[in-house]
Amino acid sequence: MKFHPLKVADIRRETTDCISVAIHIPAELQEQFRFSAGQYLTFRVNLQGQEIRRSYSICSSPLEQEWRVAIKKVPGGLFSTFANEQLKVGDTIDVMPPMGRFGQQIESQDAQTYIAFAAGSGITPILSILKTALANQPQSRFILLYGNQNRHSILFKAELEALKNRHMGRLSIYHVLSREMVDAPLFHGRIDAEKCRSFLQKLIPVERIDQCFICGPEDMIHTVKQTLIEAAFDPQKIHFELFGVKNKAPKPTLDNEIKGPLSKVKIHLDGGIFEIPVAYDGESVLDVALRSGADLPFACKGGVCCTCRAKVLSGNVKMQVNYALEADEVAAGYVLTCQSHPRSAQVTLDFDAK
Ligand code: FES
Repeated sequence: MKFHPLKVADIRRETTDCISVAIHIPAELQEQFRFSAGQYLTFRVNLQGQEIRRSYSICSSPLEQEWRVAIKKVPGGLFSTFANEQLKVGDTIDVMPPMGRFGQQIESQDAQTYIAFAAGSGITPILSILKTALANQPQSRFILLYGNQNRHSILFKAELEALKNRHMGRLSIYHVLSREMVDAPLFHGRIDAEKCRSFLQKLIPVERIDQCFICGPEDMIHTVKQTLIEAAFDPQKIHFELFGVKNKAPKPTLDNEIKGPLSKVKIHLDGGIFEIPVAYDGESVLDVALRSGADLPFACKGGVCCTCRAKVLSGNVKMQVNYALEADEVAAGYVLTCQSHPRSAQVTLDFDAK
């Protein structure tokens, strides 16, 4: 996966601290940039003398032929502040083709009942998923529970209302506001375990849900997931993504000192193979390879975005954290190389594996 210099086609202010940005994809790159609902784009810019990479979920549907992401200004966030305050239509920015597997489950044509829990900018991939599901599956239903501080911080409010009108009776939206009083206590507060249980009792029983999508902060994901599992919902049908913005703070710089035994790590990338020595305990496989000059794909370096995914062809590695890979991917041998440390004398990793 390589970065491509692409032009900003449109910028729209969504709320006081969030914009959405559409990228122009020239005809010759459209195949490479084809995406499925729930995927994200990774951007690269140089700011204050450092290279910054950030991934943002696509909020448009593949059916709209538009590549649009939402960028919420994060206090102290270099990229999000730059995008919100300086980025202009016509500017060129480096963009990597879409990645990610969140939302894959809507590819079937069957009638399904989906439920989604989103908080704040976590709505971004969910919006793409719900637009695509409702358009592609005329018999499917979608229930969205969306948490925000107040009604002014609701992202894509007008678009969600318009979708509700267009898909009358098939899209139900419930806003949960934490800092604004609302008539029904059920819709005031945060999406926590108690609220989640009440939703399942009052709005939809788990037996009627086919798939569940969750996107928001880690504690909300954990709570919703646990509550659904306690209500006997199949964990295989729960899909989650940590935030809409995958820019979890990188780990503190790891020292380069070699600790423990060394492993010979072979890396398959873009049809070529190279080998590097990596210590069992020290820098991650990704960091060592980048330091050796390899042009490997990465964005968050925090185990969140999945950009650095590779498949273990032989040997063993241990991941420190994994917020991005689903259980079936891990079972199939995929790892996040930014979190991977060798646990055998030889390891072979394939970045080209699909
Ligand atoms: S770079 Fe994001 S998970 Fe590894």
